[in-house]
Amino acid sequence: MRRPILAANWKMHKTIGEAVAFADAFLPLVKDADDVDIVLAPPFPCLDRLGQALGGSNVALAAQNVNPEAKGAFTGEVAPAMLLDVGCRYAIVGHSERRALYGESSEFVARKAESLLAAGLLPIVCVGESLEEREAGRTMEVVGRQLEESLASVTADRAAEVVVAYEPVWAIGTGKTATPDIAQEVHAFIRGKLGERFATAGDQIRIQYGGSVKPDNVDALRAQPDIDGALVGGASLQPESFAELVRLGAA
Ligand code: PGA
Repeated sequence: MRRPILAANWKMHKTIGEAVAFADAFLPLVKDADDVDIVLAPPFPCLDRLGQALGGSNVALAAQNVNPEAKGAFTGEVAPAMLLDVGCRYAIVGHSERRALYGESSEFVARKAESLLAAGLLPIVCVGESLEEREAGRTMEVVGRQLEESLASVTADRAAEVVVAYEPVWAIGTGKTATPDIAQEVHAFIRGKLGERFATAGDQIRIQYGGSVKPDNVDALRAQPDIDGALVGGASLQPESFAELVRLGAA
C-alpha cells in the first residue's frame, strides 16, 4: 500500500505573514489526518518561518526548486543542505514552469534529484506533456523520455524515496483537469516504466497527479489505482480548500 501524498505548490504566492496565517488556519483542520503525507511548498523567503509554524505538526515543508551544487558562485541559487537546514523534507524539481520558462533540461533535473537524495531530502520529480505533444499523439514518448532522463541518477535502493508528479502542461492552471481515465492511462504507463527501471521498488514510488486538482475532482482521480495523491497549485492557496483536498485525497 502506497501512502497518499498531497502537496501544495504555492508557486510565487504568499508573503511570510500570509504563509504563517495559512498555517495557523490549516493545521487545526488537518491535525487528525494521519494516513496521508501533507506537504507545503512556499516561496523560498517563507521557508524558515513557515517551517517554524509547522514544527512538530503532521505537515512537512518543501522547496519549489534547488540547485544541484553544494556551494559556490551560483548567484540566486539555493543548495540542498540549505533546504535541509531550514527544515525542508522535500523539494519539487522539474516543474513544467521551470522547464518551459527557465530552460531546465531533464539532465539538470536528474542532477537535482541526485543531490537531494544525497543530502537526505525527498525529490518530487515532475513530468508532463504539452497540449501540442498530446494532440500529436506523443504523450507516452515525451513522458517516458522525461521520466527516464530525470531519474537517470536514482538507484533502485533509493527509488522509493522519490515522488513522481504527472502534470500535463495543458491542465496546469487552466481549469482543464485530465479526466481520471486519461490520467490513469499515463500513470499506469509511468508505473510500468518505473517497474522496468527499479523492479519491485518501482511499485513503491508514489505518483501524484497535478493540473487543476480541486475538491470536486480529487475523489475520482484518487479512485484510480495508480494515482497516489496530488500536487496542487491554485486550490492549495486557501486553507479550507487544501484541507478539503487532504481529507478527500487521503481516503
Ligand atoms: P494548478 O497547478 O493546480 O494550479 O493547476 C498545479 C501545479 O502546477 O503544480
